[in-house]
Amino acid sequence: MKVIHVSAECYPVAKAGGLADVVGALPKYQSKEGDTVEVVMPFYNNAYVKKSHFEEVCHNRLLLGDQPYDFEVLKLNGPGNPGFNLYVIKIPGLLDRENIYSYDDDVERFTAFQIAVMDWILNSDRKPDIVHCHDHHTGLIPFIMSYSYKYSSLKNIPTVLTIHNAQYQGWFGFNKIHYIPEFKLSNAGLLDWGGQINPLATAIKCAWKVTTVSPSYMEELKTSANGLEWLLDHESNKETGILNGIDPQVWDPAKDSMLVENYSVKNSVSGKKANKEWLCKEYNLDAEKPLFIFIGRLVWEKGADILPGIFYRALINDDLEVNILALGSGSPEIESKLKSLINPFRGSYHVHIGYNERLSHVMYAGADFLLMPSRVEPCGLNQMYALRYGTIPVVHETGGLKDTVTDIEKGGFGICHKEVSVDKVYHSIQRAAALYKEEKEFKKIQREIMKIDHSWDNSANQYNELYTSLIR
Ligand code: ADP
Ligand code: GLC
Repeated sequence: MKVIHVSAECYPVAKAGGLADVVGALPKYQSKEGDTVEVVMPFYNNAYVKKSHFEEVCHNRLLLGDQPYDFEVLKLNGPGNPGFNLYVIKIPGLLDRENIYSYDDDVERFTAFQIAVMDWILNSDRKPDIVHCHDHHTGLIPFIMSYSYKYSSLKNIPTVLTIHNAQYQGWFGFNKIHYIPEFKLSNAGLLDWGGQINPLATAIKCAWKVTTVSPSYMEELKTSANGLEWLLDHESNKETGILNGIDPQVWDPAKDSMLVENYSVKNSVSGKKANKEWLCKEYNLDAEKPLFIFIGRLVWEKGADILPGIFYRALINDDLEVNILALGSGSPEIESKLKSLINPFRGSYHVHIGYNERLSHVMYAGADFLLMPSRVEPCGLNQMYALRYGTIPVVHETGGLKDTVTDIEKGGFGICHKEVSVDKVYHSIQRAAALYKEEKEFKKIQREIMKIDHSWDNSANQYNELYTSLIR
């Protein structure tokens, strides 16, 4: 079987969040089953791409409306090869920029990307058996394959859509409908959701199968107010939730080259201590107190708007005796509120605004607790990395967090709250701080959680079974 994943992100080439981690790991575990699994993504002009070596596979010209764009398909070669065939599509003038998202012409950039992918597949000798699309940036592909005249020879190739985040749907106006390669106008309704072209909704309608990155998120999407609930409910018969995994080749405290000191279950106490001491020295924290961390995008979905309130409440209370270290970027207002706490709480608090892969690894290793007060969490990888690194997750019971973390009081290994509010998270922090004082129990839990297997093997099999059901 030949599978092509189409995605805007793929670790280590370009990462904004968990999508990259998933697309950079899943193919390795699917390929192990003997299938050919490849990834195609946009070419970005970032540091990783600049230092990598690419070989040109083909070049061609596409039309976005009546605007022609030359494009090249390049294959990543030599050192830095992620363990599967990875192709990037370079469209000068559109995709050769440093960042992944947030340009005014993102609609043009990602629509052109999808057309280039279609052209490359159309002209390739060995057609894929499955085209697997991820999120709205690739959501027009199932429609184009089924209905655009030029690509009609691809219409029998099954398509799968994985929804990593339904908050972002990629809407644009019908004034840009001419971007989509010509199709019978009577099919235009498939592009429409609420009077706009909605690539995510289009993919839900047109893909052969739709998955979300955890079973609970699939259920939540059918009732939450994301605008797609009716559609998802209507298309239930082709939907499944498949929990993400983590890549132990990248996330293993025993081998992780980004850590200050490596450790496994046997020497977790000394290994975690060395990483914690480094963090405490670097950020002027107190290594005797429990260290709580937050890593992630500073947005409403992640509950980041209430972090300043939570941190203030925990830090002002002398009896609690905690350290907090946060890493992230996002809303300027949240960033500035978090920064304003540095001075008053110097010695027990710091925030690093920005994206820092290495620091994130050391934080998972050196921390005692990870805070995830997410309002919406389709899967969440942080809690699984934390578990593997012996850091106890403190989470809101939602989406993938509900599927991966069970409260200690219910026989599990995490601390869970049912609502997102300063009060509820503060209460969880109090519980965590009390657990930290029960040294024997705390260290036992640390060791136990490191043994939990959240690697991709199981979930990769579930995707392979899904593909097999489509090509049978
Ligand atoms: P999402 O994709 O919604 O942001 P996930 O939990 O799936 O959330 O994945 C987030 C990924 O991005 C994890 O690998 C996390 O460690 C990483 N990450 C998020 N913010 C930062 C940051 N500021 N610096 C380094 N890594 C980060
Ligand atoms: C999204 C979700 C996150 C998930 C990730 C990878 O960014 O917000 O919960 O883990 O995709 O699937």
